[in-house]
Amino acid sequence: MKIEQAMQAAINEQIAAELESAYIYLSMSAHFEAENFPGFARWMRLQSQEEVAHAMRLFDYLNERGGRVQLKAIAQPPLEFGAPVSVFEQALGHEQKISSLIDRLYETAKQQHDNPTQVMLQWFIKEQVEEENHVGQVVDQMRLAGDNRAALLFLDGKLGARSGD
Ligand code: FEO
Repeated sequence: MKIEQAMQAAINEQIAAELESAYIYLSMSAHFEAENFPGFARWMRLQSQEEVAHAMRLFDYLNERGGRVQLKAIAQPPLEFGAPVSVFEQALGHEQKISSLIDRLYETAKQQHDNPTQVMLQWFIKEQVEEENHVGQVVDQMRLAGDNRAALLFLDGKLGARSGD
């Protein structure tokens, strides 16, 4: 069954939100490059790529359902994000915002009795639990490190070892 217009519009909004996330994390990556934290920069670059993959998952799904993808304008991200702990706190806040958008999208799918979209979104619901958990762990470690330069450099090496899968 072809997807309803309201559901299509909501998925198009989410594609923009995921691409905006990718843009924010890429700007955070550039910020860390400029601040000489190559490991944090790599972590954010991979995070950005994951967000593009999320957008493409929705893009493919909408096409499969006979919908029409409509790309929207995405906002310019900030240039500077402050100290490393603050950058990851902002990333966590952003993931929490994305989780609530996914929840809202799921509610729309339920209201529309759109079962395929509910099933598709269950992947995103699980993914958001993982994302919030991962970023939350980094925030905890950053808070422990505080202003200790040696601890921050240790974390930079650790996060830089993130695999690109
Ligand atoms: Fe696609 Fe990190 O939410």
